[in-house]
Amino acid sequence: MTLLEYIKGCQNRVDEQLREVLPATSQVSQTLVEAMSYSVFNGGKRIRPILVYAAAEAVGGHQNFADPAACAVELIHAYSLVHDDLPAMDDDDLRRGKPTCHKAFDEATAILAGDALQTLAFEVLATAGQDISDSVRLKLVTELAQASGHSGMCGGQSMDLNSVGSALDQEQLQLMHSHKTGALIRASVIMGALTLGSVQTQELENLTRYADAIGLAFQVQDDILDVISDTETLGKQQGADLALDKPTYVSLMGLDGARELAASLCQQAIQSLEGFGDRATVLRQMAEYVIQRSH
Ligand code: IPE
Ligand code: IPE
Ligand code: MG
Ligand code: MG
Ligand code: MG
Repeated sequence: MTLLEYIKGCQNRVDEQLREVLPATSQVSQTLVEAMSYSVFNGGKRIRPILVYAAAEAVGGHQNFADPAACAVELIHAYSLVHDDLPAMDDDDLRRGKPTCHKAFDEATAILAGDALQTLAFEVLATAGQDISDSVRLKLVTELAQASGHSGMCGGQSMDLNSVGSALDQEQLQLMHSHKTGALIRASVIMGALTLGSVQTQELENLTRYADAIGLAFQVQDDILDVISDTETLGKQQGADLALDKPTYVSLMGLDGARELAASLCQQAIQSLEGFGDRATVLRQMAEYVIQRSH
């Protein structure tokens, strides 16, 4: 199977799961459930679910047991994008080639849709079937909560907003990126591995090193694409970071420097998987995909 076939399979798989958990109708607020679906089914790459599935397989697990985790990380990601685009944050009008949630609906609806997507993520884990033991379930909930909150993504997003107009040094920028984007990517890999139920500590440590490297590489590439790509390919406004005077890896070290860093992070990620053999082929390929992607 080629990487693209694997990616397609995971995208279809997680979309099917997401369709099952997202409400189609509501007696309480049809607008809210429509805004939730609008923000999930709009062409995301599903990179985090793919990492969940690939990490589960890298430790000898199975995709079937990884479905709830794959679904949950994508729900958190979708919520984070809805809120990231709000006028109080990045104030973006375009996401995945369509009007952002607050443009298609309104700001209050976008805030609530984000909130409801976030809580749904935890509901999915809490109510996952018998295939997942209670102790694994608890670990998954803990991992996702820590990655999403003040010591993870929200912390990073807050640092991002507080850094507008200032020139961060490399250490600060890495701290920001590893939280706002890296934390959920790390959680995706770790949660995938945890679904096995008997993953070795050493394997988790190596996967953490892998995930930290690709998480950072992912955001470095996001910064690069903001400069070199175009709005149509990206499906979001090109040049948005510059317009908002955000510190990025390109503003810190120039395009070539950022590209070199992304390539070296990709190599670091691949080296972290040395002990895994063929089971980690997809994870290795994903490290390359993250820095070669065009959107
Ligand atoms: C975009 O994430 C936001 C960042 C964390 C940089 P993705 O590039 O994974 O967005 P989608 O889900 O494919 O739209
Ligand atoms: C977003 O980072 C990170 C999260 C949503 C947590 P960006 O603000 O760089 O993402 P884009 O470029 O809008 O997708
Ligand atoms: Mg942002
Ligand atoms: Mg943004
Ligand atoms: Mg960006």
